[in-house]
Amino acid sequence: MCGIVGYIGAKDARSIILEGLKNLEYRGYDSAGIALKNANDIKIYKDKGRIKHLCEITDFTFDTNLGIGHTRWATHGIVNYDNSHPHISNNKRFVLVHNGVIENYKKIKYDYLSDYNFYSQTDSEVIVNLIEFYSKKMCTESAIRKVVSKLEGSYALLIMDKENLDTIYCIKNKTPLLLGLSNDGITIASDIIAFPKDVNKYFSFDDQRIAIIKNNDVKLMDYMGFEIDINYKDISLDTYNVSKGDYEHYMLKEIEEQPTVLRRIITNYFNYDDCVIDKKIIDAILDSDKINFVACGTSLYASFMGKYFFEKLCGIPTECFVASELVYSNPLMTKKPIFIFVSQSGETLDCITVMKKYKAQNYKLITLTNNTASTMANLSDYLLDICANPEISVASTKSYVASIAIMSVLAKAVSNKKTNLKNNLNRVSIVIDQIIADLKPVIKNMAKSIKDSKAVFYIGRGIDYWVGLEAALKLKEISYIHTDAYSSGELKHGTIALIEKGTPVIAICTQEGTNSIVRSNLAEAEARGAKGYIISLESLSYSEDDIIIPNVAHYLSPLVSQVVCQMLAYYVALYRGNDIDKPKNLAKSVTVE
Ligand code: F6R
Repeated sequence: MCGIVGYIGAKDARSIILEGLKNLEYRGYDSAGIALKNANDIKIYKDKGRIKHLCEITDFTFDTNLGIGHTRWATHGIVNYDNSHPHISNNKRFVLVHNGVIENYKKIKYDYLSDYNFYSQTDSEVIVNLIEFYSKKMCTESAIRKVVSKLEGSYALLIMDKENLDTIYCIKNKTPLLLGLSNDGITIASDIIAFPKDVNKYFSFDDQRIAIIKNNDVKLMDYMGFEIDINYKDISLDTYNVSKGDYEHYMLKEIEEQPTVLRRIITNYFNYDDCVIDKKIIDAILDSDKINFVACGTSLYASFMGKYFFEKLCGIPTECFVASELVYSNPLMTKKPIFIFVSQSGETLDCITVMKKYKAQNYKLITLTNNTASTMANLSDYLLDICANPEISVASTKSYVASIAIMSVLAKAVSNKKTNLKNNLNRVSIVIDQIIADLKPVIKNMAKSIKDSKAVFYIGRGIDYWVGLEAALKLKEISYIHTDAYSSGELKHGTIALIEKGTPVIAICTQEGTNSIVRSNLAEAEARGAKGYIISLESLSYSEDDIIIPNVAHYLSPLVSQVVCQMLAYYVALYRGNDIDKPKNLAKSVTVE
């Protein structure tokens, strides 16, 4: 969603901010803007559209060492110039960029700002004017503390003050914000990958924190104004490995990175055949009477395999919850549940809200994430890195495979059973390499034959149905074809009415117990005009199947069948000419409710 970058230091702030905003493009946005110190003034450049356009309209002729920038993903107000950030206060003294949502902005407007003019429909413009309102009676720092006492909602804010032009004010509540140090300056950003490459130390703001950055000095405090010590962490080089290389799209690069991700997981999480997992995590799970997975989207679909592993291997009852549903419901809890949150970004607000809710009830929380510097990582009792390295394409691919692999390792460690998991994961990485090397032509042909369809259905049972759910999400989000997945037994209970002549129905057949029945269900759809396709595992395949995947252990089949479905989605979207890495209406990390 929205992205923030600010810089203060010895270098050209404009280039650092624009470069940082480019690195945040993957999060999804519709407008961009930048405010820069120019001698005793602040210059603002902003518009709807891409960073490339922002670079074209930004003046590069003056020296500037301080500024703030923003990419906007519209929540309040349409996509246009006026609603783009930065926003400026009525007397033109304060300039602000904002990520998040202010829930009570209308009330603030009514209570305090009835004399103010508003030029945008955003909640953010209210904040900048409220700062101006209080600044008339007190210093900027006090005005900011007064403002945060009035705000309800989520916000990461960077503020410039024309009367303190050597300073950036930062505020964080519920929306990510990080501060990075390099030898020549300080960068503040909503994601680590927006930092310039020479940042070597950083910290991640806790909620309800204000930082005042003046020259090379950072003063961090809470909302009461009490100063807080800063614990900086080191940054690893892998953090910055976000280049597209020779690939046309990040999505294909990330699909093809999956064997490497699996090998990294094997290296990091195995010592010979034994799983290397912190004993405290194992004990915490063994001490619980039920595991509750909580996640959204792709991470939720990956969690279904977590349920499978923990129930099958460890005999622990496990349930998967949609995070956004748990925010507003209170399902009956067992005596000693443990929660496992799964999130690629670690910044999904619905997950964060649920974490806070259950943390307050003293339940133990584990997070599986690709971002060990994230809010979710900070909130959890125990952390497992899924080791996928930055995922830039909005459509998740490698984080699905990585999360499932980590879940299998964790379940094996908890069960303490002898299994062949390490070899089996190794085999999976080899088979994904084979899929990439050998199956592209058949996947491309299949993509060509479904690319003009009005609707597509995936069917399967059990594991194959869960794979279908994620496969359908992938296809719909980047191809914009209406796609759904059904447990194949459910077709006859209603959905089969949607089958028209030529409707593609893709059956996934990787499980022995359900192979024949899924094939029969597909035949029923074909008898009503569907164009059937079968993706199968070699040992269960028929020669006429459309895509036959070399064998892997059946319980790890999602790690290979999903790769085929990811590639299918990719090529369908490619043939339809879509913006694959930044599909319309979507954002990479969903930091609003
Ligand atoms: C789909 C996709 C989303 C995310 C979901 C959760 O390709 O990327 O469905 O999986 O928004 O995001 P994380 O895993 O960051 O919590």
